[in-house]
Amino acid sequence: MLVLGIETSCDETSAAVVRDGRQILSNVVSSQIALHQPYGGVVPELASRHHLELIDSVAREALNDSGVTLDHIEGIVATYGPGLASSLLIGLTFGKSVALARGLPFVGINHLEAHLVSPWLSAQRDFAPNVSLIVSGGHTILVHARAIGDHTVLGQTLDDAAGEAFDKVAKLLGLGYPGGPEVEKHALDGNRNAIPLPRGKLNDPDYDFSFSGLKTAVLYWLRRRQTCTASHLPSPVLRDVCASFQQAVVDVLVGKTIAAARACRVRAVTVSGGVACNGALRDQLAAACAHDRLELFVADRKLCTDNAAMIAGLGWHKLRAGLRSPMDLDARPNLKLE
Ligand code: KG4
Ligand code: ZN
Repeated sequence: MLVLGIETSCDETSAAVVRDGRQILSNVVSSQIALHQPYGGVVPELASRHHLELIDSVAREALNDSGVTLDHIEGIVATYGPGLASSLLIGLTFGKSVALARGLPFVGINHLEAHLVSPWLSAQRDFAPNVSLIVSGGHTILVHARAIGDHTVLGQTLDDAAGEAFDKVAKLLGLGYPGGPEVEKHALDGNRNAIPLPRGKLNDPDYDFSFSGLKTAVLYWLRRRQTCTASHLPSPVLRDVCASFQQAVVDVLVGKTIAAARACRVRAVTVSGGVACNGALRDQLAAACAHDRLELFVADRKLCTDNAAMIAGLGWHKLRAGLRSPMDLDARPNLKLE
């Protein structure tokens, strides 16, 4: 079955055609990073206006790239939450409209549930019971995923998401947006043990996260040095701050994920979301999984960040199971993974 997926939950306008929930025929992602860069974060009004301008051409491009036409598409799926209300509405309304006009089945997709399938799409492997870390700018969630549609949220961040912490610390340091790639770049030649920083909740027996204390610790460290931005920091010190901060985040993410995998007695771990692009996280999670004889599935970088292929990938499972959403399905900005 050929499924057209649509994703506009935040600042990526994306459309994809996926065959049988596995074979990605096209995955067009138009990122708005440059648009929001001057503001140091996503501006919702700009994001939705941009989605509206682009959604039609992005969907056409996805069809062109896939080599099929709308006549071949057998189902349409679109993200209906969580995300920015005005952004979600664009993709959701577009998806519902095309489905209605073509008489095709339609299902609204939970963006977070789609993140759970992206590592399996990348690996071209059948889903296996796993512990999954979703780690992005908006979310840091640990999930026990037993099967598609059968999962339990083990824990999540109590304050900032990990990506948000990267973005805020980058801002403190006067680095660009988005902060994750900037911090990673500067951390490369830094000493990760240079500055002692807290590992929030690492040793607590639950699976929740907290990153706001870490961000504040970086702020206080900078204040003690009587400096505010990177322009006042000698570059070796900037590299050490970035490396120490990144290591603190990675220690917590890896520690909690492995603890959850042990407790749930799974053999597989997956990770997705924008922060999963981070090389230190990928390497250290791989080493920790190897130590515990766990198989690690990390989504390809293009499938880590927001994309419609994961929406279409999950959508195929929902459509095949006979699920259909009503045409009055509304956007759910605060939709949870349940
Ligand atoms: O999944 P995503 O594209 O969007 C959502 O938040 O849903 O994730 C974006 C987040 C940003 O906070 C960005 O700073 C972070 O992912 N990020 C990274 C890296 N690349 C992106 N964080 C750490 N290291 C990276 N290489
Ligand atoms: Zn996402």
